[in-house]
Formats: sequence, C-alpha cells, structure tokens
Amino acid sequence: ALLLAVALAPAPAASQQQQQPPLDPPPSWAFPNPRLRAAYVALQTWRRTAIFSDPANFTANWSGPNVCTYNGVFCAPHPADGGVLVVAGIDLNHADIAGYIPDSLPAGLPDLALLHLNSNRFCGVLPDTFLHLRLLHELDISNNRFVGGFPEVVLQLPSLRYLDLRFNEFEGGIPPALFDRPLDAIFLNSNRLTSPIPPNLGNSPASVLVLAHNRLGGCIPPSIGRMAETLNEIVLIDDDLTGCIPPQVGMLRKVTVFDVSGNGLQGPLPATVTGLVAVQELNVAGNLLEGAVPASVCGLPSLRNFTYEDNFFSGRPGCAVATADGRWNCIPGAPAQRPPAQCAAAAARPFDCSRAQCQAAPPPGSIVPAGLVHSILPVPTRGLHNARNGRAAAAHPQREPRARNAALLRSTITGLLASVLRQPAAVR
Ligand SMILES: *[C@@H]1O[C@H](CO)[C@@H](O)[C@H](O)[C@H]1NC(C)=O
Ligand SMILES: *[C@@H]1O[C@H](CO)[C@@H](O)[C@H](O)[C@H]1NC(C)=O
Ligand SMILES: *[C@@H]1O[C@H](CO)[C@@H](O)[C@H](O)[C@H]1NC(C)=O
Repeated sequence: ALLLAVALAPAPAASQQQQQPPLDPPPSWAFPNPRLRAAYVALQTWRRTAIFSDPANFTANWSGPNVCTYNGVFCAPHPADGGVLVVAGIDLNHADIAGYIPDSLPAGLPDLALLHLNSNRFCGVLPDTFLHLRLLHELDISNNRFVGGFPEVVLQLPSLRYLDLRFNEFEGGIPPALFDRPLDAIFLNSNRLTSPIPPNLGNSPASVLVLAHNRLGGCIPPSIGRMAETLNEIVLIDDDLTGCIPPQVGMLRKVTVFDVSGNGLQGPLPATVTGLVAVQELNVAGNLLEGAVPASVCGLPSLRNFTYEDNFFSGRPGCAVATADGRWNCIPGAPAQRPPAQCAAAAARPFDCSRAQCQAAPPPGSIVPAGLVHSILPVPTRGLHNARNGRAAAAHPQREPRARNAALLRSTITGLLASVLRQPAAVR
C-alpha cells in the first residue's frame, strides 16, 4: 500500500506543469464539481502540450468549462460518490491524432471506465500514472505507435477486463502475470513480441485471445486445456510456433474459432480435436503437420470451415468438410499435392512429439494450480465490447471487435461505471 501511495504521488515536474497558466481555467469559470475541474486541466494539458497534429479537427471544440460536451469525452454520474458527474469515457477512435499520453492525463481523469484510442498516431509509452485508473474497464490503444516493452502497468489495473494493444510496436516478452488477470479479451496481435507464450496461459479466463503476427516462437502451452470453460476464440496466426499441438486442445469445448495457421507446428493433428464440439472455424494451414487428418473432424457438429492446406498430411477421411480443401499436402489421389520426393523425405523422419520439449519447465511453485485462478477471480464482465470477432481484429487494424457510435457509448458508459464500481477490487 505504501509503495502504491508513493507511485501515485504526482511527480513534482508534472504538478508544476499542471499549475501553470494558461492551462488553469480562469477563476471566474464555475465547474459543477472539483473532478470536472481536474478533468478540464488534464484534457487541456493533453491537447496543448502533447497533441501535435489533429488533421480531422477532432479536438477543435475542446474549450470552455463544459468538458462533458467535448468531442469524444463522455461523462456519467459517479454512483459511489453522490452521483456527481465525472468523465467516465474517452473515445478518440479513428481520429488520426498524433501525440503522446502525458503523465498528467490519468491523474486528472481517475474515474475513466473506458479509454478508446484506436487508429491514431499516439507514440511513446503508457505512463506509470495509469495506476490512477482504478476503474478502467476497457483499454483500447490499438493501431497507434506505442513502443517499448509490454506495458506492465496495465496488469495492475483492478477493473480492467478488455485489453487491446494490437497494431503497435510493443517488443520483448509477454509477462506471465497477463494470464493471471481477470481479462475477458486480450488482443496483442501485430506487435513485435518475441518470447514464447508463458506456460501459465491456462490460468487466463479470457474468452478471446489474439496473439497473431508476432515472433513468439516456442509452443502452445498444454495448460490451454484449462481454458475449457471460458475460451471462445483463439487466434495464433503467424507466431513462429513450433512443437506439437497439445492434445489438451481437445478440452476446449466452447471454442468457435481455433486458428494456428502459418506457424511451424509439427507432428499430428491430435485425435482429441473430437472434443472441439463448438468449433466453427478450424485452421491449421501452413504448418508442418503430418500423419492422417483424424476421422474425428467429420463428427464435429458445428464445423463450417476446416482449413489444412500446405502441411504434410498423408491421409484424410472422406467427409465433405475434410475434402473441401487440402492442397499441398501428401495425400494420395488428392489434387495439387506436394512432389513425391518431399513427401517421402517427411515420411522417413516423422516428428516425435513425446521427445519434443515444448519449453523449459517453469520453476516449481510458480504455476497456480488448475482451477484456482478461475475460482478466486470475479467473473469477467463484458462492457461495450462483446469481443467476438478475433479473426477480424487480427486482420484489420481499424476494425473494432464491435461497431459502436456515440449514442451507444453515451448510453452504456453510465452502466459500465456502475458495474465497475460494484466490483470489490475497484474500490480497494
Ligand atoms: C480543420 O480546421 C482547419 C482550420 O480551421 C481547416 O483549414 C481544415 O480544413 C479543417 N480540417 C477538416 C478535416 O475539417
Ligand atoms: C463538440 O462536438 C461534438 C460532436 O460534434 C458535439 O456533440 C458537442 O456538442 C460539441 N461541443 C461543443 C462545446 O461545441
Ligand atoms: C475458410 O477459411 C479460410 C482461412 O481463413 C478462408 O481463406 C476461406 O475463404 C474460408 N472458406 C470459406 C468457405 O469460408
């Protein structure tokens, strides 16, 4: 607690900057409450000192004391504080603004439940002052120019349920603590992340996980089977993954989208895929998979699109879903297969999954036992984003997982703030 208090104390330089005119409002201006006055100072500081280009004039009407009418700024009554009006949401999606997030911004807007900055040109890092955002539920900074290591400060936000960092330049590893957070949706695709998926993946209660288009390397952690009760979509396209698809994947009975295409995955497609009873799109194309396509895919009741071209499969069952595709494999009699010499070379040296080391075993005690995290974390609450389009989010920088407009935002933010404040973690 002491540490947090120290971290939250504003740096002297930042507070001096805030006190200096002209960012302070004229004394004659009346603000409905001190929180809106603080929000005014924070927004003006942002606009005047840290926004360098606003070609669509998105912030052109950010002037005057009524911050609640500023374009992209949304206020709501604070349910836990006598219903005073506070700034609860900022949505600058698609504004094409260039600038950065100053240290002073989070401190002046501690009641934000939602921050959406998709498709702008914000650069730099997320300041540690994000620690102030105890009520932040949705953070979408996708398709900007943020850099540096994974922004660990987001792992300390008690209310955060939706994290979208895709299409930025974050580099280095994914911190294991990410999967111990009660996040419902995690989008990290199209960054510069470079180390393997942490082995505690299965601790995550996320319903949507998109890590596509990074240089992760390593394998799919077998703990993925522990996501059986929550995972709906997982998209790991083009991540340099190797090793075998763990048989635990078959436990994911709620998954509708399972896409591991464009990696270096080896060995067979496990017969346990029979357990993917909800899967609609199953994409394993562009890997080094071998052996026969298991007959169990024919019995998957929801399967619409099974894609496995460009592997080394040597056989397949005869059902329509398994024969609709399948070029560039080693399947006798099927059209457009690999040259026989390639297939013979692969068949002579089958990959032995039992001897493949997925990744170094974690030190004893560092992994939370199965089931523990799910039982102690509150059930993730969904906000405006009912993130159900992981594949589109992986492919299109500007596509948001759910279409929204200002009216929808306005009507929902109040409820969002109320629901966030009901969660015990937020007020601690
Ligand atoms: C933004 O405002 C400037 C100055 O008033 C004007 O020249 C420009 O055309 C405006 N841009 C847009 C996209 O409206
Ligand atoms: C600013 O622009 C928004 C969106 O057009 C509008 O709803 C709002 O009333 C404007 N505010 C002011 C102070 O002009
Ligand atoms: C099946 O999925 C693949 C890969 O995503 C896509 O290219 C293809 O168009 C899809 N086919 C159908 C019939 O939807």
